[in-house]
Amino acid sequence: MTKWTTDNIPDQSGRIAIITGSNSGIGFEAAKALAEKGAEVILAVRSQAKGDAAIASIQAETTNAKLQVRLLDLADLASIKSFAEQFNADYQRLDLLINNAGIMVPPYSKTVDGFESQFGTNHLGHFALTAQLYDLIKSTPDSRIVNVSSNAHKMGKLNLEDLNWENRKYISWTAYGDSKMANLYFTYELSRKIQAAGGKVMVTAAHPGLTASNLAKGAVVRFFNSIFAQSGSMGALPTLMAAIEPTAGSGNYFGPSNMAEWRGYPKQVFSNKQSHDTDIAEKLWQISEEKTGVKFQV
Ligand SMILES: NC(=O)c1ccc[n+]([C@@H]2O[C@H](COP(=O)([O-])OP(=O)(O)OC[C@H]3O[C@@H](n4cnc5c(N)ncnc54)[C@H](OP(=O)(O)O)[C@@H]3O)[C@@H](O)[C@H]2O)c1
Repeated sequence: MTKWTTDNIPDQSGRIAIITGSNSGIGFEAAKALAEKGAEVILAVRSQAKGDAAIASIQAETTNAKLQVRLLDLADLASIKSFAEQFNADYQRLDLLINNAGIMVPPYSKTVDGFESQFGTNHLGHFALTAQLYDLIKSTPDSRIVNVSSNAHKMGKLNLEDLNWENRKYISWTAYGDSKMANLYFTYELSRKIQAAGGKVMVTAAHPGLTASNLAKGAVVRFFNSIFAQSGSMGALPTLMAAIEPTAGSGNYFGPSNMAEWRGYPKQVFSNKQSHDTDIAEKLWQISEEKTGVKFQV
């Protein structure tokens, strides 16, 4: 089997990509790879200074890279609305939306709108963002949406009655797993809805295995990562494959090929049985619309 690398990415000139959380880690490497192939990449990040530093770093290696920072805080529905309104006003196409930003196992806190922070940022923020950019994505030929999940989805078991963890003891790893499971429910349900409506937008998911980045804050996980994690450029390959590979197929999931999907070149992988539960996915969709106040029509 041949290895899928950035050499498999054809010329992206004329294409526009938004990558959330692209000032560091996997998002940064994906932005760099797409910009190197000629795409115009919008770094949707929450800090202008970090976004500017990321662009400077890419431009130091890639002449003529088309990059732009636009501020987006996924933990704030007003910020998401303002980002989408401005983008829709300024652009006539959106070829790729890569929902990559994420937080992992922080102490219990809530987003601006009162959602548990991991579910609010990792899932609800991206749900609201995608819904508000969807008309533009739909009007762009060969467009695609990629959601970045995790092996940690296997720890997820969403409690739809208590998504904000107000009635039970907070377990930050379970909440992270829930948010990454929600990324998969969203991917599969969106893909199903688009296909049922006869739409053409492709929706895929990816996970980076274990990748060195700024995600892990705890000393133990950082130590573990320093020994076992692969590089950011390797970790970005499943996302890039999910975003670019012509044969990817809507509703499919990509991850590393070696060591129980922790490392290696990317391939199609399979999420757990629960992530394919269509009843939960539909309920989560309705709850996501209610909580964000954003109606998502394909
Ligand atoms: N690294 C791994 O081994 C691994 C494994 C499985 C899945 N993942 C997933 O991969 C994705 C990327 O993570 P990474 O490893 O590259 O970590 P990272 O280097 O920490 O990147 C995460 C990005 O998300 C941004 N972000 C966090 N909260 C945000 C918010 N409220 N609004 C906008 N942006 C926000 C961060 O911005 P700031 O710099 O401002 O914080 C950063 O740019 C995440 O979805 C993560 O769950 C990673």
